[in-house]
Amino acid sequence: MENQKTCKAKSLLNWIDDRFPLSKMWNDHVGQYYAPKNFNFWYFFGSLALLVLVIQIVSGIFLTMHYKPDGTLGSQGVPVAFAAVEYIMRDVPGGWIIRYMHSTGASFFFIVVYLHMFRGLIYGSYKKPRELVWIFGALVFLALMAEAFMGYLLPWGQMSFWGAQVIINLFSAIPVIGPDLSTWIRGDFNVSDATLNRFFALHVIAVPLVLIGLIVAHIIALHEVGSNNPDGVEIKKLKDENGIPLDGVPFHPYYTVKDILGVVVFLIFFCGIVFFAPEGGGYFLEKPNFDPANPMVTPLHIAPVWYFTPFYAILRAVPSFLGTQVWGVLAMGAAVVLIAMLPWLDRSPTKSVRYRGPFFKIALVAFIIAFIGLGILGAMPATDLRTIIARVLSIVYFGFFLLMPIYTKLDADKPVPQRVTMSTAKQKVMFFVYIAITLVGAYLFATNV
Ligand code: HEM
Repeated sequence: MENQKTCKAKSLLNWIDDRFPLSKMWNDHVGQYYAPKNFNFWYFFGSLALLVLVIQIVSGIFLTMHYKPDGTLGSQGVPVAFAAVEYIMRDVPGGWIIRYMHSTGASFFFIVVYLHMFRGLIYGSYKKPRELVWIFGALVFLALMAEAFMGYLLPWGQMSFWGAQVIINLFSAIPVIGPDLSTWIRGDFNVSDATLNRFFALHVIAVPLVLIGLIVAHIIALHEVGSNNPDGVEIKKLKDENGIPLDGVPFHPYYTVKDILGVVVFLIFFCGIVFFAPEGGGYFLEKPNFDPANPMVTPLHIAPVWYFTPFYAILRAVPSFLGTQVWGVLAMGAAVVLIAMLPWLDRSPTKSVRYRGPFFKIALVAFIIAFIGLGILGAMPATDLRTIIARVLSIVYFGFFLLMPIYTKLDADKPVPQRVTMSTAKQKVMFFVYIAITLVGAYLFATNV
């Protein structure tokens, strides 16, 4: 009986394979994709970014079923869009959990993607032959920022409205075309119903399509050249007689199983926020956004959501010069573009931070301090002292990138081993840590904590 079933499944698979390369695709990207055997926890964040993408798309589809992109005042004197979100939260069965999954998912997307990018930075994953993987990643990051910015307007709260107002106004600083460009983006002279409608269209379909296309390109490019690893050793250089990398293991089952552990830990944190702290201390859902948008009343302090604050702090840190504020806007744009330029700024042949010299390590620590410091300052109202600190940290941020061709060339890197390194003692400890985490996760879910 069992045999008959397997036979039927096999012949169905053969039938499909004769018409569509299903098995080939599975083998190329999963079953026979050989990944380095020394991946550590930093390698969880790619698959977790995919998980958050799915969470956002699925929760977004359900939100769209009840949300109305309408900025006009409804029967109760409250904007229809704002009231629609309140309706989802209070009256739609399960609406609150869908909405909190989506709002928490937005912040978690950036947490996961920032950690994913940081992994690329410390292990030199942007270097030859993975430049295109990095470029597609940087474009994904840009699209993600656009997606989050437009999504944030939709609840039509005070921060949605004024945040969009401030950011779209930045475009007016561009010489000659600026004012017309910002009117064109808004579709009006002010953020209005027209802006809300177009942001809705872009947020629910246009940008997600671009995002998915770029992510597919990102993964295809990665699988063409193969994954990097914490040692920065190219595993394709040493293969056995069958052409299989000596330091590689098939992605499935080794990393599919390992990634499940990442998912469990992620879900513990994610559910913790969704169920116990959905406002994220006022950082995931900001307090002024619980008031409906009011073009007549400006909130005391307008700040973007936390994931934009490092770039916002750079914008504010640059003084206006020659009567224009365009320099701040340019600096903010350059801060993102420089990330994409990393493959050409880094001149060291060594990939992993494990074998880098002291200059890179010092620069990296300075960069981490600058990025986090700017993030904190960008969330606070500006004062004279904070502006000075933000200027210093902005110089450090740009120095990290612009001086990179010099300090990476002069650095005294250590020799890189031929094969990946793995300590068996560490592996044994990690095995027990993994088991413990999985059991805690399973317990929490089973007991509905
Ligand atoms: C929605 C956003 C993203 C998704 C879903 C995504 C997905 C993935 C996946 C599944 C992998 C393979 C697994 C892994 O190595 O962790 C990967 C690798 C990689 N990603 Fe992303 N990624 C995203 C954003 C980015 C961004 C913004 C960058 C950088 C600017 C980036 C740079 C890289 C690099 C360099 C690798 C290869 C890492 C290595 O082999 O060491 N990714 N990505």
